[in-house]
Amino acid sequence: MFDTVIHSGMVVTATDTFRGDIGIRDGRIAAVAERIEGGERRIDAGGRLVMPGGIEAHAHIAQESSAGVMTADDYYSGSVSAAFGGNSSFIPFVGQHRGQSVDDVLATYDERAKRSVIDYSYHLIISDPTEKVLTDELPRAFGRGITSFKVFMTYDLMNLGDGGMLDILTVAKEHGAITMVHAENNEMVKWMNRRLAAKGLTAPKYHAISRPELAEEEAINRAISLAKLVDAPLFIVHVSTAGGAALVQRAKLAGAKLFAETCPQYLALTRDDLDRSGVEGAKFMCSPPVRDRATQDALWKHIQSGTFESVSSDHAPYRFDATGKFTAGMDAPYPKIANGMPGIAARLPYLFSEGVVRGRITLQQFVALSSTNAAKTFGMTKKGSLMPGMDADIVIWNPEVTRTVTLADQHDNMDYTPFEGMELTGVPEVVINRGVVIVENGELLAAEGQGRFVARACVDLTGKAGYRAKELDPAQNFGAEIAP
Ligand code: URP
Ligand code: ZN
Ligand code: ZN
Repeated sequence: MFDTVIHSGMVVTATDTFRGDIGIRDGRIAAVAERIEGGERRIDAGGRLVMPGGIEAHAHIAQESSAGVMTADDYYSGSVSAAFGGNSSFIPFVGQHRGQSVDDVLATYDERAKRSVIDYSYHLIISDPTEKVLTDELPRAFGRGITSFKVFMTYDLMNLGDGGMLDILTVAKEHGAITMVHAENNEMVKWMNRRLAAKGLTAPKYHAISRPELAEEEAINRAISLAKLVDAPLFIVHVSTAGGAALVQRAKLAGAKLFAETCPQYLALTRDDLDRSGVEGAKFMCSPPVRDRATQDALWKHIQSGTFESVSSDHAPYRFDATGKFTAGMDAPYPKIANGMPGIAARLPYLFSEGVVRGRITLQQFVALSSTNAAKTFGMTKKGSLMPGMDADIVIWNPEVTRTVTLADQHDNMDYTPFEGMELTGVPEVVINRGVVIVENGELLAAEGQGRFVARACVDLTGKAGYRAKELDPAQNFGAEIAP
């Protein structure tokens, strides 16, 4: 009756923990019960946790940056690394650069993504919101289940300006999609760059100085206001500051249609990690930058108290060589060094060890932050839960084993990991995607290309009251119908 039965484990969901078995048939969870007999294959999960497979909601895979640098991981190596890290699916970004058609860009990524070993969808980055994009291409993307768009408030070649962002927020809202935003004030960063360059301060450590906490806080505040004006859902990616997190918390309390994430690097690293001899610090350069210990403590409190839906990796793998970080030369000033660090395989082990094992979060919070909330926010209606009828996307986790993080364990295409040497307790031993065991005891069992595109539903706004600006309400603006 069942293809596979996982038995004797401790099943953990975003709400419960119980001793139970899971029966899998045709790639779906067919039964969850105290005891299930039979099964063509029986997997003994005794002493292990059985949880929804991780959903990595923020990863840059086979993506060119605005400077034209390709990530080191393609959909094969990126998905393999994700699988070894306990993920059964992921949502990397598709990047539209200026002048490109969204249809063409999506066709390119469809080819690239065919190699994925885990299920995938895309968030669509918009850097050129032409009339055709807004009225024709975005609705078409939405029609095929791409229900999240991302915009930038920083980087000269990516940022849309407030007007462009309002346009995207409005179109996304009309189609039930959510807009994600990289929130940093571009002009503050450029001003800092000019001041630092004038003094010859261009070593990697100054990257952390060039992007002030205030640049993130100002941009988060503005992004929330822009979304509030048009009452559109908004997701703030990679929140790195206590002030930014507090703004998210406050807006959520006021009922905003707001979601947010932070990332392990903001919990694990500080700007001192950039202060290394030569250009070694470039390994720890990402935007927004890593901050300080006080920020780490504050971000953990926000994780504990529900400010963040997810902890995502922001896996942005640029190798420590001329193909990645140093396309502008090994002695390039920090503004010409590629931003981003790998972490797709380390995300869940880090969150489990520093979160659950250290007593900062519950097992239920771990499941919510690693899988369930991403499924709900991004409309993966068959994932993130262990209910009958859901995709059999499951991770069997050994909570006792302690490992030292090594590059080899990341299984990516990188030449370093910023988490190297950390001692983490808890290991994903078996990873299952739609009923197929893809990783088991350190071995990859997945076939290249076995991952499937997931057409996603609309963002779930249950419980988010939102806000009606008087000036956009026809009952109060002399009947002007100017926004949905
Ligand atoms: O530094 C980072 N995070 N690079 C990736 C691109 C982005 O900003 O999301
Ligand atoms: Zn970003
Ligand atoms: Zn990113």
